[in-house]
Parts: sequence; C-alpha cells; structure tokens
Amino acid sequence: MKKRVQVATATMLFVVLAGCASDGATQTAPAQAATPKAVLFEQPTTAKAIIEKDKLGAPVKYTMPDGCITDDADAIARGGFIFHNLNGKKAKGDAPKGLAKMIEVNGKKVEKQYGNCVACHNIEKAKGGGNIGPDLSNYKAIFIDTGVRDHAFVYQKIADARIDNPNTHMTINLTTKLFTEREICDITSYVVSPK
Ligand code: HEC
Repeated sequence: MKKRVQVATATMLFVVLAGCASDGATQTAPAQAATPKAVLFEQPTTAKAIIEKDKLGAPVKYTMPDGCITDDADAIARGGFIFHNLNGKKAKGDAPKGLAKMIEVNGKKVEKQYGNCVACHNIEKAKGGGNIGPDLSNYKAIFIDTGVRDHAFVYQKIADARIDNPNTHMTINLTTKLFTEREICDITSYVVSPK
C-alpha cells in the first residue's frame, strides 16, 4: 500500500516536470543545440561586406614618376605634414600650401586622413615617434648618400611596402588610394630631404 502511494507521487511529479518542459523557454535549448556550429558563427552580411571591401589587392610594383623627388619647400612641407599627422581636423598647425584639412568625398566634407608615420617611425622633430619601424632620422646621409637605398626604393616602400616584405606592418598608401601619386612623391621628398 505504502509503495503504491510512492509510485503515484513519483508519477505526479513526472507529469508536473514534463509539463514545465513543454513551455516555450525550455524548448528552445534543444532546438539551438541542434543548429550546426558553422551557422551559429556566420558573419552578419554587413560585417562580411566591410571585411570584403577592406581586403587588399595584390602588391603593386610602381615606377617613380619623372620629377617626383623635389627640393621644392612647399612639397617637402606637405610631405612632412602628412608624415606627422593622422586626421585633418585634429592635425597640428595650418596645412601647408596645396594640402587641405577637410576634403570633399562624394559631395560630403570629410577630414583628410594623413599618414601618421610617426606612430611607427622616429624622424627629426617627431613628437612621440614610434619604434615599430626603423628610425628615419638623418635618412639622406645614412641611407641615400651611402647608396644603401635610392629614391625609387623609398617611393615604392611608401606606395606599397609589400613588394619586398609581404608581412610588412606599413600602411599601404598608393594601392589603397589613401594618397595620390603626387602626395607619395611629397612624402618621399620629405623623407630623403636634408633636415
Ligand atoms: C604600423 C607601423 C608603420 C607605419 C604607420 C608606417 N611604417 Fe614605415 N615601416 C614600418 C616597418 C615595420 C618598416 C620595416 C620594413 C617593413 O616592415 O616593410 C618600415 C619601413 C619604412 C621605410 C624603409 C626604411 C628603409 O630604408 O629600410 C620607409 C622609408 C618608411 N617605412 C616610411 C614610412 C612612411 C613615410 C610612413 C607614413 C606614410 C610609414 N612608413 C608608416 C612600419 C610602419
């Protein structure tokens, strides 16, 4: 008799628990567990589009245009300004002749992006120059005048650094159209100029 009561209680308990299991909240767990992992980790469409858009094409070998390297003071000033600054609006001091802090892209005024080369390289008058890349101070005397590097090498390095180092940490500047050919020449002229 006592045993039958126990069985009845256990049966009731089972019915109650089974009832709970059938409400919405607990039912979703087994359904999710059955979903294949690949689907759970798939990138949302927007993220995928951004990643695709940011992918770099193959490294490009460039020929330095005629008259690229110049001792024109304005060109060197532009190169220096690009070297030492990151964002147009926050850039320190007035932009030199021929360079603007704000530019128009697709009819909208946006901050011009500069090179932020000082984040990785030290150079004359650098404020907080980084040490991820080589120190570019006294570059002309140490690298150009000794024949270790030539202008074309520096131009190529700044335009697309992957050509001699596929794993470079450098920004890719001409292939991505971050800068124009003329701007790459200005930056190169600045790096190789006596300072
Ligand atoms: C994220 C760090 C980083 C940034 C930003 C960066 N560089 Fe570099 N740069 C490097 C590293 C690292 C090297 C060493 C070679 C390599 O990785 O390709 C290098 C190499 C160079 C060289 C070659 C030096 C030599 O003779 O061997 C030049 C010139 C140069 N960078 C100029 C620039 C200029 C100009 C900018 C800005 C437009 C810039 N770099 C931005 C990291 C950087």
